[in-house]
Amino acid sequence: MTSTLARPRSTSTPTGPATHLPTRLRPADLLRITDQGAADVLDGRYNHLLPTEWDTVNRWATRLEADDDLDVWLISWTPNEHTELHDHAGSLGALTVLSGSLLEYRWNGAALRRRTLDAGDQASFPLGWVHDVVANPHAAPLRPVAATSSTPPAVSLSVHAYSPPLTAMSYYEVTEHQTLRRTRTTLTDQPE
Ligand SMILES: [Fe+2]
Repeated sequence: MTSTLARPRSTSTPTGPATHLPTRLRPADLLRITDQGAADVLDGRYNHLLPTEWDTVNRWATRLEADDDLDVWLISWTPNEHTELHDHAGSLGALTVLSGSLLEYRWNGAALRRRTLDAGDQASFPLGWVHDVVANPHAAPLRPVAATSSTPPAVSLSVHAYSPPLTAMSYYEVTEHQTLRRTRTTLTDQPE
């Protein structure tokens, strides 16, 4: 199929773009881009980027698309492998789950709130979003995803988009007083 992963031609809205943000893309744009990216992965467009065997122990990621406004990643998640509580610095983000199931733990200002993101579910991450993501250990058996794979991957897969492209992340811990403590900031273009 023809990919529409390319950026939308216009993001203007009746109220105009959010000029205070460092990107012209909106969360809705990123949701649409990850949705199309997931469809393209399922259609085999990115088979050449997929591993011949899924790593069931270590998380894996590959960049699907990149330009000045945007980077798009395919990420595999393995059971019980947390990413740590983190933000995405000055980038907006979004994801679409395309196989399996993820658990997201998000800091809501007072506590960590858990939600389940199953295949087909989406989430967007505005600036300041602090979360941790892990494969759902109670997920149903997974279907094959890659045409190159002869057996179902024992991993959950999701497509993520970040705009502007990631350059940094900060990491956090929840204190004994149920507050959030930032522990470090890392320059990175790798997604979590
Ligand atoms: Fe994240």
